[in-house]
Amino acid sequence: MNSQIMSEEKRQVEKIREAFDQEIGRFSDLSLDNLSLDEAEILQKKLSEIKTKHTGKKSELAGSKKLIGRVAPEERSAIGQFVQTIESEIVTAIESAENNLKNFINDAKIERERLDVTLPGTRPRVGHLHLLTILRQKIEEIFVSMGYSIEDDREIETDYYNFDALNIPEGHPARESQDTFYTTNGFALRSQTSTVQIRAMERRGVPIRIIAPGRVFRRDTPDLTHTPMFHQIEGLCVDKDITMAHLKGTVGEWLRRLFGKETRIRLRPSYFPFTEPSAEFDFSCFKCGGTGTFENERCRPCKGSGWIELGGSGMVHPNVLRACNVDPQIYSGFAFGFGLERMCSLMYELDDIRLMFENDVRFLEQFR
Ligand code: DAH
Repeated sequence: MNSQIMSEEKRQVEKIREAFDQEIGRFSDLSLDNLSLDEAEILQKKLSEIKTKHTGKKSELAGSKKLIGRVAPEERSAIGQFVQTIESEIVTAIESAENNLKNFINDAKIERERLDVTLPGTRPRVGHLHLLTILRQKIEEIFVSMGYSIEDDREIETDYYNFDALNIPEGHPARESQDTFYTTNGFALRSQTSTVQIRAMERRGVPIRIIAPGRVFRRDTPDLTHTPMFHQIEGLCVDKDITMAHLKGTVGEWLRRLFGKETRIRLRPSYFPFTEPSAEFDFSCFKCGGTGTFENERCRPCKGSGWIELGGSGMVHPNVLRACNVDPQIYSGFAFGFGLERMCSLMYELDDIRLMFENDVRFLEQFR
């Protein structure tokens, strides 16, 4: 009877072991060769579930220990030993599977984080400012150091600011040369930064000293020297007793700071509707120093003339001052304006202005 009971208990314990063997099987002959780290970590979780299931407090094995008390006393130690043997086999099998997985995961992690410091790196491509921005900022710095503020304003304007207030009434031929783009509801893309003269005087009143860098637009077909969008810098100084000498002094000082103290400037009589008198300003060539020859050849930027034509200028027209409610009997001022792209292409001897807008990094990277 007793041995019958015992073999009954024994069978039960053996069943527990068989069930365990089935589950642990895939772990004991697990080939780790083709395993990924993620898969191994999933297996690790499953194994830990199996461990709780088969060795935890609520496991069948733990339950089977209660059976020991039910068998005859003389059989008790034998069945007890049997349960213990099975238990230690189960624990050993789990531990060994755990160790295998743990080692594999550790190795895989080390492999993943391995760093070969001798491999060539991927060099980060460091960006830099566009050549137009660099030049604009240099010019801004010079003017700020002379007490000018930098004025920024809108690119979409009314005809009033683009033309009328600048003394270019409807039908004036100067409108033609500055034909721009219009929106359907009567706005225009500004064709010159001179618009900011008006806006700034309206906003700040006089006396005023500003430069206004910005985009302008014209209905030009793109070619070597034209693009329908380009940049200008406008300058304006209005105060009491401002004369053309201040204009010449200011423009000269700015260009000397940019190109060196030997730089000379000259004013040539010209016409602009918003200035009277008007002048174009040139400066002595930065490359040949005004001689017109460089290394025994005709100097390129100044085309052998020794002078570089840069922009327009003049004494602010009384009508412009009046349009801004400034009394021309009390105040006078000078203004000037020039194109940044033209200046850049002269300085860097670019033969095509469009290069500055194509944004080919191989081109841009040459000018830092
Ligand atoms: N706005 C003129 C242009 O686009 C340049 C210019 C000329 C600006 C004379 C001025 C000036 O301020 O006084 O051609």
